[in-house]
Amino acid sequence: MNNWWQNAVGYQIYPRSFYDSNGDGIGDIKGIITKIPYLKKLGIDFIWLNPIYKSPNVDNGYDISDYKDIAAEYGNMAEFQELLATCHKENLKVILDLVVNHTSDQHPWFVQARKGKDNPYRNYYHWQDATEQNLPNNWQSFFGGSTWSLDEASGQAYFHVFAPEQPDLNWKNEAVRNEIYQMIRWWLDLGIDGFRLDAISHIQKEPWNFKIKDNPWAPFMNVAGIDSYMKDLQQIFKEYKVMTVGEASGVSSKKAVNWTDSDGYLDMIFELEHNVRKGIPGEERIDLLGFKKVIARWQKDLGEKGWNALYIENHDNPRFNSILGNETKKSAKAVAMMYLLLRGTPFIYQGQELGMTNYPFQTIAEVDAKDTLSFYRRLLAEKKSKKEALKLATAWSRDHARTPMQWDDSEHAGFTTGRPWLEVNPNYKKINVIAETEDTDSVWNFYRKLIRIRKQEKTFATGAFELIAQNDPDIFAYLRKGEKQFLILTNISEKKRTLTLPKKIWQRNWRLCLANNEASQQALDKKISLAPYDAFLFVLE
Ligand code: NOJ
Repeated sequence: MNNWWQNAVGYQIYPRSFYDSNGDGIGDIKGIITKIPYLKKLGIDFIWLNPIYKSPNVDNGYDISDYKDIAAEYGNMAEFQELLATCHKENLKVILDLVVNHTSDQHPWFVQARKGKDNPYRNYYHWQDATEQNLPNNWQSFFGGSTWSLDEASGQAYFHVFAPEQPDLNWKNEAVRNEIYQMIRWWLDLGIDGFRLDAISHIQKEPWNFKIKDNPWAPFMNVAGIDSYMKDLQQIFKEYKVMTVGEASGVSSKKAVNWTDSDGYLDMIFELEHNVRKGIPGEERIDLLGFKKVIARWQKDLGEKGWNALYIENHDNPRFNSILGNETKKSAKAVAMMYLLLRGTPFIYQGQELGMTNYPFQTIAEVDAKDTLSFYRRLLAEKKSKKEALKLATAWSRDHARTPMQWDDSEHAGFTTGRPWLEVNPNYKKINVIAETEDTDSVWNFYRKLIRIRKQEKTFATGAFELIAQNDPDIFAYLRKGEKQFLILTNISEKKRTLTLPKKIWQRNWRLCLANNEASQQALDKKISLAPYDAFLFVLE
């Protein structure tokens, strides 16, 4: 176990909302450079940047129109290189997003492809004969509507698993693969430290006449034949010895072993199963038991051979302190301890380390995310009131996580001197970097301690995982067993709970290392009382 990323903690930066250095209301590369000391102070080892490439921004950078250029609102190539060099000087590694399932419809390849059937770039994408009434099949896209968009001029339709402005590349075409591999090498030659591979399990599709039985995404999720493309990619990544993490929905925990073992295509993958929801629409929360079962299964199935990417928040999901915690400092800390000491490489999403919460949307004008907007329009068409539609559409909106980072208690939370592209959460006066770095009892300082402990103790990187109280709906507790033994006990609920520990645990001599309740003098006994959102870390003496 001597890969650098196995004992590292990552930090995800959503550049648009991180820090704006020029007052245009949009975060930028210079802003990230300014905040490197902040990241160092937190104790993380690498950053993953969401896409910074040239893009018409239909899907905030996930629709790329030039793979080798930087979006003007973020800066330019020289600034990116400055960021890379500064990070490296500070011993921070830099991982970029690699979006190669699709391009923007404004990418020169697609602009050409659209010109007609005989264009040399036509076959860079998937085209099939079609009419409005007779699309090639009934497959649905992730963002709603058909996966096919009609091009009347040619009597054909092109294929997209996301928005119509994000046409899927045709990986069967060797010329496409060569362009992509060459582009990947180009970035790696610049000295970046790895990639997060967007939507990578979708690059291979079933034949167009494939019939969907139950899973609507089956025709483009980890479909047979993907392996040969993944092997090509693996070869490049191995050659450059870089870190890779794949967004690979449809790769089950059982299959993920082959994807992530020492001979695997990638170093780790983000599982997309853990957001198990409960509650009525509009008020859904994470079901702890469902969440726990998914996490425990991945920990077990990947075991000693594979490797997990650990995360609770990202730019596509609401804030965990709102959907699993109760928006308090204490719950943010409990949730942090719950996942940060699992086996794998933890990722922290910007603002998570402050306990940032969901945004209280008052009007649809505050929403940017296209999928939330189309959901809202659909609800209105179904005759829901504006109020009801807003509640339902924003409950799980990606925009909760995309509001600007809260740096201080000045206007716009110190994110920008201009008008922020997305509203700032009104709780920034209390939840912000300045307040929390100064307060020894803050969520931020708790994250810092957890990161430090995790990196000091080899057991967290290498030790085995064992779940305790498997079927308890409120408590997430586990052992990490390696050179030392650690016990993590968290009550992820607003209930006061008593837990009966197994004899093999309570009979032994445990010492408390860290708790989110400073008054606590908790010693382990057969029965242990846990107040709402209590979290304890014990070590075996
Ligand atoms: C997954 C990304 O995380 C998401 O933000 C994006 O919309 C889709 N892939 C399409 O690229």
